[in-house]
Amino acid sequence: MESSRTRGRRRCKITLTNAPVAMRFGEINKLGEKLHAEIIPADATSMDDLANLFTKSQEALGGKLDFVLHSIGMSLNVRKGKEYTDLNHEWMLKTFDISSISFHKMMQVLWKQEAMNDWGSILALTYIAAQRVFPDYNEMAESKALLESFARSFGYHFGTRNKVRVNTISQSPTMTTAGSGVKGFTEFFDYADKMSPLGNASAEACANYCVMLFSDLTRSVTMQNLYHDGGFSTMGMNPAALNL
Ligand SMILES: NC(=O)c1ccc[n+]([C@@H]2O[C@H](COP(=O)([O-])OP(=O)(O)OC[C@H]3O[C@@H](n4cnc5c(N)ncnc54)[C@H](O)[C@@H]3O)[C@@H](O)[C@H]2O)c1
Repeated sequence: MESSRTRGRRRCKITLTNAPVAMRFGEINKLGEKLHAEIIPADATSMDDLANLFTKSQEALGGKLDFVLHSIGMSLNVRKGKEYTDLNHEWMLKTFDISSISFHKMMQVLWKQEAMNDWGSILALTYIAAQRVFPDYNEMAESKALLESFARSFGYHFGTRNKVRVNTISQSPTMTTAGSGVKGFTEFFDYADKMSPLGNASAEACANYCVMLFSDLTRSVTMQNLYHDGGFSTMGMNPAALNL
């Protein structure tokens, strides 16, 4: 990241990535143009693609990286409408590879390339179904539990060697492609909104929280799962959710 102060705001230089198959939807190209960010396609399950991604990113940014965000989730069983009690375990393995093991793969490539600057920050997005039961979240619950564990375990190694921190942000339900793929998502979104004293955290608020965790203001925060959910995770019952 290169940063400078422009009109009182800090600016940084980033690269963007997504799976090669996702490139055809075009949205990332618009974002890349807006942010003047180079787009480097990579399948996050491929070590070769990840090696290329971080080599090219360092070339594009002119040095090592200050921060990396993992924002990947996809369940084959959810996509194909399989119930939790009737899962296809080959698909489950693929789900884990895409949604969780990709985080370990990403960090292992960053580690071996020595691609992170000291005091850098690595983040992944997760969901409270890793700790509590949300039946329709299906095998993604175990995916997120695995993801959060990788953050803790790799956080030890990155912290010790490079003072790099590794955390996960546990975000409120958010209206996105993956989010709205979950059965009954709209009803659940409204329920979580009512349960949370601050209401659901928006996508923009999540982005702001990521920026804070990338900043030097959070240098001593590592190996944490941080709830960004308007208070949902601490509530037991909210009369508002029962329309009382
Ligand atoms: N939307 C929510 O309600 C919510 C809540 C909490 C956490 N999250 C998490 O936020 C993150 C982002 O999800 P989202 O809601 O923006 O959904 P999304 O579907 O828009 O994003 C998921 C992204 O993963 C990419 N992807 C899938 N397979 C890939 C692969 N093999 N290699 C590289 N990229 C791949 C997809 O192309 C997509 O851009 C996920 O980790 C998700 O679990 C979402």
